[in-house]
Amino acid sequence: MITLRTKWFDDEIMKAIQIPRQPQRPTNDDNTDEDTNNDEYTGATGATGAEQLIIVGAGYDTRGFRLTLPDTFRVIEIDQPDVQALKIKKLVTIAKTDDKVLSRIMKTTNTKNNNIVQFIGIDFINKGNDDSMISDKLLSSNVFDKNKVTVVILEGVTQYIPKSSTADTLQQLHTILPANSILLISYVPQDTYDDPNKLCGGGSGGGSSSGGGSSSRSTSCVNKINLLLKSTNLFAGAPWITGWKTPTDFGFFLKELGYQLQSVSTVDMLNEKYLKPLNRHIKKEEMTPIEQYAVAIVVK
Ligand SMILES: C[S@@+](CC[C@H](N)C(=O)[O-])C[C@H]1O[C@@H](n2cnc3c(N)ncnc32)[C@H](O)[C@@H]1O
Repeated sequence: MITLRTKWFDDEIMKAIQIPRQPQRPTNDDNTDEDTNNDEYTGATGATGAEQLIIVGAGYDTRGFRLTLPDTFRVIEIDQPDVQALKIKKLVTIAKTDDKVLSRIMKTTNTKNNNIVQFIGIDFINKGNDDSMISDKLLSSNVFDKNKVTVVILEGVTQYIPKSSTADTLQQLHTILPANSILLISYVPQDTYDDPNKLCGGGSGGGSSSGGGSSSRSTSCVNKINLLLKSTNLFAGAPWITGWKTPTDFGFFLKELGYQLQSVSTVDMLNEKYLKPLNRHIKKEEMTPIEQYAVAIVVK
């Protein structure tokens, strides 16, 4: 799941960089379907592709260090200060033997146009004495440019924090992002908690009425989901708590905050897209089809 997710985010970021965006377009209220695609909004004369990336809840995300990004492209990571401090310590060690990482964490002779990854430390839930907003921190950072089409990613974050925190973060970002900036965000369906059997193709209510093979497939999938929930709770100390009922529900949530949902991909879809052509697709019975991956556009 993580490998597919990583590839999807990488591809969507590179697509956003390469495909120019039209300055602004009218809102279409009904446009929250899963399979809506965004091709029609691209290719405008004079428009530019994304020029900066904000990684919210970046953790150990290494995109700013490993992707081949344009020379002037900016990457800004947002996470809790103590998480960033640990990461920077590890990056400094890696930079001793890796020129690319070195050139992205500090200015060197190989650094082109100062495209150094910037870290902004903030706890967007427990602000403590620091009641600054993400938007203020970005604006005062001298790194973020509010006129540049931006990609914002929230990967593997929304399930760990209350819906209100995701909403607050997205709302703040919306105030400073230019129109047609791109949000790439993962979330989990509410069924993960309430009725995992449904996600596993076993229908609602915890039991499967189909034949033995299908039933044991579904049971194994449900067991994996339950184990995952238990392990995030017990061992990682960071329980999953949040989900959305359907992609449409998620689309409405985003719409209230000024983002228009363009597409939602499932693990199944990524399996078909990336692994099937290589004859390496994951078999249904081995899949844990939890997370979903959404593209949304900033509407102003
Ligand atoms: C499961 S990790 C995902 C990391 C990365 N996005 C990835 O996909 O590998 C969640 C990240 O969100 C960050 N995070 C969670 N709650 C946060 C908060 N209240 N403020 C800032 N960052 C937070 C954590 O520190 C962690 O790095």
